[in-house]
Amino acid sequence: MRTFDTIARLRDELRSCRHSGNTVALVPTMGNLHDGHIRLIETAAAAADTVVASIFVNPLQFGRNEDLSSYPRTLIEDQNKLQEAGCDLLFAPTEQEIYPRGRDSQTRVEVPVLSDLYCGETRPGHFSGVTTVVCKLFNIVQPDIAVFGEKDYQQLRIIRKMVSDLCIATEIISVPVVRADSGLALSSRNGYLSTQELEQAPALQRIIRTTAEALTQGRRDFSQLEHEATLRLEAAGFRRDYFRIVRRSDLAPATDSDSTLVILAAAWMGPARLIDNLELEL
Ligand code: PAJ
Repeated sequence: MRTFDTIARLRDELRSCRHSGNTVALVPTMGNLHDGHIRLIETAAAAADTVVASIFVNPLQFGRNEDLSSYPRTLIEDQNKLQEAGCDLLFAPTEQEIYPRGRDSQTRVEVPVLSDLYCGETRPGHFSGVTTVVCKLFNIVQPDIAVFGEKDYQQLRIIRKMVSDLCIATEIISVPVVRADSGLALSSRNGYLSTQELEQAPALQRIIRTTAEALTQGRRDFSQLEHEATLRLEAAGFRRDYFRIVRRSDLAPATDSDSTLVILAAAWMGPARLIDNLELEL
């Protein structure tokens, strides 16, 4: 695997890949790779000839009081994991390479409505930072395929909308949430948890499942179910950010006539804001 830190050199390399008829898959990440990211790489390797991963801790998607400076940066370990998983090219640019004229004058890609809900409500501007950098990465790599995780459910939906609205010729493939044996969704932010918090954190997934079972058994009092889940989260040591039962089509709050649903949740455990979700069909 070769690592590139400039757009120009990566593009030269990709030009020769394409010249030999190779299809290209991109897996964008912020590094500190775990088995969830690796599953994305393996999916990309099965779907295209050349796999490009990117590692860029994108300042544009972090709020002022968020963990940009403490976000774990582990390039050497990440390179070893990527190489083992079958990644061909790694793009690991500096901030200067991606935002040469500074963050504030960067042209933005905004996906309206969806970006303002849930995570977007708590983290204003977050999704605009995500779509801007992902659009830039798509323009740099021009991949045939890009692979994203379903753990970041709202992010995936927003990226699909961006690709459709902007006629980007990249097929988006998604990968189901990869979990630890405890049920906890793998996340770079799990590294912020103490041993005790790590034992408590799988409750997030259990509480989502309990709510899903109640829905499957016929309950439709969505607000009451969300309230009960909040109480359970608090009892398990979480501070709830949001817990919403929504319909999959547009992520709007579920109504009695909806049957294709997803439960979206975000909650703080100590210093870490964890997110998780579960799709269900009634
Ligand atoms: P990051 O959090 O590093 O995640 C990179 C990709 O890995 C995303 O598509 C995410 O959904 C996926 N992923 C993370 N944990 C996962 C898990 N447990 N199971 C399955 N997939 C998982 O998401 C970002 O970075 C950034 O917002 C990015 C898209 C790179 C833009 O900066």
